[in-house]
Amino acid sequence: MRNVTIDSVTDVVIGSLGKNGEISDRGREVLTALIRHLHDFCRDVNLQHDEFLFACDFLARAGQTCDDKRQEFILLGDILGVEVLVDMLTNRIDGVESESTVLGPFYRENPPVLPKGASTAQKQFDGEETVYFEGHIRDVNGAPIEGVTVDVWEDAPNGLYENHDPEQPDYNLRGRFESDKDGHYAFRAVRPVPYPIPDNETAGELLRAMGHHPNRPGHIHFILSKDGYRTLVSQVYDSDSEWLENDSVFAVKESLIGKFEAAGDDLDTDLHVQFDFVLKGADKAIAA
Ligand code: BEZ
Ligand code: FE
Repeated sequence: MRNVTIDSVTDVVIGSLGKNGEISDRGREVLTALIRHLHDFCRDVNLQHDEFLFACDFLARAGQTCDDKRQEFILLGDILGVEVLVDMLTNRIDGVESESTVLGPFYRENPPVLPKGASTAQKQFDGEETVYFEGHIRDVNGAPIEGVTVDVWEDAPNGLYENHDPEQPDYNLRGRFESDKDGHYAFRAVRPVPYPIPDNETAGELLRAMGHHPNRPGHIHFILSKDGYRTLVSQVYDSDSEWLENDSVFAVKESLIGKFEAAGDDLDTDLHVQFDFVLKGADKAIAA
């Protein structure tokens, strides 16, 4: 096709997708919509060539920032509210199941497997507040679920995740637990503190361009998984934390706010949190 115009170029490019391309039906649907939205965006803002080159350079620099510890594209997606949107589209809530929220870039595979009630902390920090965190995991009918794998991870009282802090032991404040026959899970940890997401490199450039701050409220991450149930990726937020109303990645949900209360004398920690989860059956999730 010769002589494409501002108006015709979109259909011409979409029409160029060959029938035998190495792409699934879903991939073709996504790519077609991507081309259409991208072209509409360029026309909407009347994108100029120097702006196109700036965007190419920005994305190239974002790519160069990625390594095994930093995933710049997840961060950029978080800052633009894309991860939280995709999460809500993927895990639509249509009942009593617990809400999910963003995974974020700090999860590590294969955390230490620990017995119920053990502490994830391998090092003490001045001024830390220890917490006993427990609750029940049930299905949508209220029945306890035994054998749910509960992965937890959080930042240390200095605001750093262990894999971004050479002063912390490997896998500090990370652990894998399992719910018992009553669906009960429990672990010991420390009160999570607010922290800034990485705000140098392209993530920082984007935040500064937006005039937004990098801070997240204190939270503990969870992944709850068991065959037959929809895996829940979520976070529990400290109700007393700063930044609950203005999270830099828009991930706070009212239903995920937990109360860090003074622990009773029967506990050996400073604080106590009780937080229950409801998991949805995997079949229902697929049907939805
Ligand atoms: C986090 O909660 O760990 C996180 C989420 C999004 C961006 C950066 C960090
Ligand atoms: Fe986090």
